Amino acid sequence: MANQTEFHDRMLSLGLARVSEAAALASAKLIGRGDEKKADQAAVNAMRDQLNKLDIAGTVVIGEGERDEAPMLYIGEEVGTGNGPAVDIALDPLEGTTLTAKDMPNALTVIAMGARHSMLHAPDVYMDKLAIGPGFRTGVVTMDMSPAERVSALASAKGCSTEDITVCVLERDRHAEMIAEIRTTGAAIRLITDGDVAGIIHCAEAERTGIDMYMGSGGAPEGVLAAAALKCMGGQMFGKLLFRNDDEKGRAKKAGITNFDRVYTRDDLVTGDVIFAATGVTDGSVVAGIKREPGFLTTETILMRSKTGSVRRMSYRNPVR
Ligand code: FBP
Repeated sequence: MANQTEFHDRMLSLGLARVSEAAALASAKLIGRGDEKKADQAAVNAMRDQLNKLDIAGTVVIGEGERDEAPMLYIGEEVGTGNGPAVDIALDPLEGTTLTAKDMPNALTVIAMGARHSMLHAPDVYMDKLAIGPGFRTGVVTMDMSPAERVSALASAKGCSTEDITVCVLERDRHAEMIAEIRTTGAAIRLITDGDVAGIIHCAEAERTGIDMYMGSGGAPEGVLAAAALKCMGGQMFGKLLFRNDDEKGRAKKAGITNFDRVYTRDDLVTGDVIFAATGVTDGSVVAGIKREPGFLTTETILMRSKTGSVRRMSYRNPVR
């Protein structure tokens, strides 16, 4: 059994970027074609094919769903050649299937890899999420604070007015009250229709993206992926699983979760060092989307390692055959 020290993250990182790029390239033809499922399937197939070329003994811990509902890249699927370190993999071959189908910004392919047991095996339930970028004292904002209190606390820590804060929120009916409360502070709200992994990553590069804080509920698996990104880039994140019924609690129990009220910090969601890659499908503030020119497709990938905090942006020009 490999342990955390045997995880050769430096050597594997380029391989991870290739996996992410392959998924994006495969979904390129389906941008703006109104077919979410087809776009997702193309990304899943390509990601799985590339992943199986890596010299790892990988296990998918965040994937396309439970084995009985997802035939490929399901939770627990073993991937890689089997000749290499034992690693856990969290992935979302197409984060923003609707964004892709409608050619809207910030659709990404996302994958993170760490030593075995380095990431929470989050069930497919909702998670209440809160994130800010690096450079603030721990706990400057907390899950216990109301949305308005979070805005005020972050503004004081930044030394600016609440009106200078921008909060990113998924546009959903369930967030109506939270949005109304944030508005009372005068803060700006960047509403997104999908894609909270990108939403959270935005906080880590506030100058570039204009987003200071993320809050609201979205998928728990996406929460772990976002935590992996922030572990590399810096920034704080909190997540609390939300359960709508006993079936969802059952999924959590199956994943080994016993405390249903726990507030997870970034480092509880991702406990060990990870490498993270995301490739732009449609244009976004984190990475550019796929560019077409006669005979070529070009992708941009952000590739990061938490051990060193290194963040690379890589451009890949791929001949179309
Ligand atoms: P898909 O890529 O599967 O379409 O989901 C994207 C997403 O917007 C996530 O980023 C987010 O966490 C989740 O869906 C939100 O779920 P819901 O649409 O149920 O509010």
